Amino acid sequence: MSKRFGGVQAVRELDLEVGEGEIFGLLGPNGSGKTTVFNLVAGVLAPDAGEIRFGGVLLNGLPPHRRAALGVARTFQLVRSLGRLSVADNVAVARLYGATPARSVDAARQEASQLLALVGLAGKAHLPAASLNLAERRRLEVARALATRPRLLLLDEPLAGLNADEVQAEVGLFRRLREEGLTLVLVEHNVPAVRSLCDRVAFLHAGEKVAEGSPEQVLSHPRVVEVYLGGAAG
Ligand SMILES: Nc1ncnc2c1ncn2[C@@H]1O[C@H](COP(=O)(O)OP(=O)(O)OP(=O)(O)O)[C@@H](O)[C@H]1O
Ligand SMILES: [Mg+2]
Repeated sequence: MSKRFGGVQAVRELDLEVGEGEIFGLLGPNGSGKTTVFNLVAGVLAPDAGEIRFGGVLLNGLPPHRRAALGVARTFQLVRSLGRLSVADNVAVARLYGATPARSVDAARQEASQLLALVGLAGKAHLPAASLNLAERRRLEVARALATRPRLLLLDEPLAGLNADEVQAEVGLFRRLREEGLTLVLVEHNVPAVRSLCDRVAFLHAGEKVAEGSPEQVLSHPRVVEVYLGGAAG
């Protein structure tokens, strides 16, 4: 796929394939096109060229809610909760969308509390979402995405701003989600977390894929070392 914004070629003839059940990392410096790729897959943006397929279904032209109904969910780099709603209702609202929506608001609320337990927010269910700290808001984002019952979860910098303990907890949660059959694609700058979590990664630079493979292979690739690690790690 390709996507241009005015004079900026944000994504350039990018070929990417993620296998079912994989944890796939999308790496690259600031402005390399990672979030644009998520927006293309989620349907927020239309590609200028190329095809996007999900389990054999052509996604091109489908609006975001149709893609959600097929099982595509994403979180946002800048956390976007409904601040005045309770934590529980943020998830309940999302439970009314997606692949298999809850049949009633009551059912949505019940399932929301299960999802909050899964992400470790059960104790905060009745607080306004705006009262959560950053780590908790990121967990709420994940719970809201999970509420649509996705098969594919796109996580945009889910570990940014978290402390070491919080990162550990998230990494554990992502592993559990994969064990339950979810496919995860994450954009992440936390290299140790990427190494421990991802089966495969791709590295973007100026919208182009410069390397793809295991985290070890990609993070030691000469161009990646040059672009990302400033050459020092060489
Ligand atoms: N909606 C938009 N309109 C105009 N330009 C955009 C838009 N979205 C992204 N861009 C530009 O496209 C390029 C890629 O941006 P993108 O947000 O995909 O990068 P990124 O890899 O996610 O960066 P970061 O690590 O900083 O989040 C950048 O030059 C950015 O300024
Ligand atoms: Mg981004």
